[in-house]
Amino acid sequence: MSPRTIGMDDRLYAYYRATSVREPAVLARLREQTAALGSQASMQIAPEQGQFLALLVELTGAVRLLEVGTFTGYSALACALALPPQGRLICCDVSEEWTAVARRYWAEAGVAGRIELRLGPALDTLDALLAEGLGETFDMVFIDADKPNYDAYYEQALRLVRPGGLVALDNTLWSGRVADPEDTTPRTEAIRALNAKLGRDDRVSLCQVPIGDGLTLARRR
Ligand SMILES: C[S@@+](CC[C@H](N)C(=O)[O-])C[C@H]1O[C@@H](n2cnc3c(N)ncnc32)[C@H](O)[C@@H]1O
Repeated sequence: MSPRTIGMDDRLYAYYRATSVREPAVLARLREQTAALGSQASMQIAPEQGQFLALLVELTGAVRLLEVGTFTGYSALACALALPPQGRLICCDVSEEWTAVARRYWAEAGVAGRIELRLGPALDTLDALLAEGLGETFDMVFIDADKPNYDAYYEQALRLVRPGGLVALDNTLWSGRVADPEDTTPRTEAIRALNAKLGRDDRVSLCQVPIGDGLTLARRR
């Protein structure tokens, strides 16, 4: 029993990964290819987080998903594999180069037909989705792009997700930097301000889950 969330040292983390993290082979291959990009690979979510997002898709019966920040497509693929055949995922990113990798793996996994990639600044894409009449039609939105725009993505996501739907925001623990008062960099300040806002936002039910780099779940009321 523990009155607080336990920390994980390397030994416990290795046990956790070995015991309960299931990573489909195609996702493992995508992870290996992304690792070859070098330091940028750290933008990819952890495999346990992919597994958790996939479980959320299954648990909620989500069929219409939206992702803001796709990179080489790991989180999108984890979610798309959990969708039923009629499920659809719209992905937003600005990088032709990184999402070309994503497209290859989505095709290899047989889920390319479930995913629509929209290239361009995500704020424009989210505006366009609203203009297309897609407000309140998504079951789940995953936000994992540029941090200074997180608050704006969150507000748009609340318009796009249906009542009862889920908005998930990645990196909300930001490697612990949100709790370091000496870190006043714009990205840290942006996440810190949004965390404070989320903590008292009564439009949503909330839980900040300490998985990966921190994943905040906000269910629209
Ligand atoms: C942290 S990575 C996403 C990681 C991805 N979810 C995964 O699991 O591999 C952030 C992505 O956001 C994209 N991005 C940054 N600024 C953006 C913007 N203004 N509009 C859309 N995408 C943006 C980057 O190109 C990058 O691919």
